[in-house]
Amino acid sequence: MNFLYRIFPEQASTVAGGYDALFYFLCALTFLVSLGIAIVIIYYAVRYRRKTKTPEPLRPVHLSQRDIHRMEYAWIGIPLVIFMGIFYWGAKLWASIKTPPDDAMQIYIVGKQWMWKSQHVSGRREINELHVPVGVPVKLTMTSEDVIHSFYIPAFRVKTDVLPGRYTELWFEATKTGEFHLFCAEYCGTKHSGMIGKIIVMEPKDFEVWLGGAGEGSLSEAGERMFTQLRCNTCHTGDSQARAPDLEGLYGSEVTLGSGDVVVADESYLRESILEPAKKVVAGYQPIMPPYAAQLSEEKVIQLIAYIKSLKGRGPPAPDAGASPSDAGTTDGGTQESADAGVPDGGTDAGTAPGP
Ligand code: CUA
Repeated sequence: MNFLYRIFPEQASTVAGGYDALFYFLCALTFLVSLGIAIVIIYYAVRYRRKTKTPEPLRPVHLSQRDIHRMEYAWIGIPLVIFMGIFYWGAKLWASIKTPPDDAMQIYIVGKQWMWKSQHVSGRREINELHVPVGVPVKLTMTSEDVIHSFYIPAFRVKTDVLPGRYTELWFEATKTGEFHLFCAEYCGTKHSGMIGKIIVMEPKDFEVWLGGAGEGSLSEAGERMFTQLRCNTCHTGDSQARAPDLEGLYGSEVTLGSGDVVVADESYLRESILEPAKKVVAGYQPIMPPYAAQLSEEKVIQLIAYIKSLKGRGPPAPDAGASPSDAGTTDGGTQESADAGVPDGGTDAGTAPGP
């Protein structure tokens, strides 16, 4: 589609082609229908124009019942097929744009007035730039420190709102190396229009080199230090006498709350349980953990979560470990698998309790 070069940004992600195809199809369909209507209007205007000052009344049209039915079937059936086709096409595309692959590389994004901050799992951080490898699915977990922003990469055809107080997700797989625009696509104050950045897509081996040059320790190491600093380890000791739940292997597992609800321990759940622990207290524990909402920035919360995610369990479970009903090999598979547990992703407001 090079003839549209000046109108459309280049296609630089795996979903860009499919996204544009649907858009072009809708444009073409709209154009053809409009054209058809225009032609009919012009034809009728000429055909039935007033030819004399005292025109003869037109003879009424009489159709057989059968013809009427045929017409009705046509005007119901044809649009139905077209629109259901568009719906199916769009829904499929939407699902693929919204569902990151399990092996996607994780990067964390925090938006604030007026900049984009990113943290790589390696610990490397950036502002208003995001380096990613080409040909590798990348999943962004995003939040905001202040108001609503929107993370938008036109060349990748992806855009997701970035909201204070919760995590949203966006994924892409770049297909070309180079630099691409990053915009904030939600008015967020005076310098909203300046909240722009660059996505820098590199060959995987260049990316590895770039990533390695940080030297401030990985995200989970930073989280581990904070875990000790905040003395989380005095309660989350991991032994059976602990006053707080064991965090080993927690991420991605199902947690039974005191209320009887079962939630999936995804990133949103971990975030909420750090900032406002009283909201979802794990069954069998007292709500004694203090809230950390006032003292942790979103970036620090992300580091803590990265640390908790790095705790993948204590190897083969001891024979008596069966306290959890859902210990069946809960890997770090991530939040998406919650679908098969019938629990909506995001978990914070899931409310999928089996009921009292
Ligand atoms: Cu951030 Cu507009």
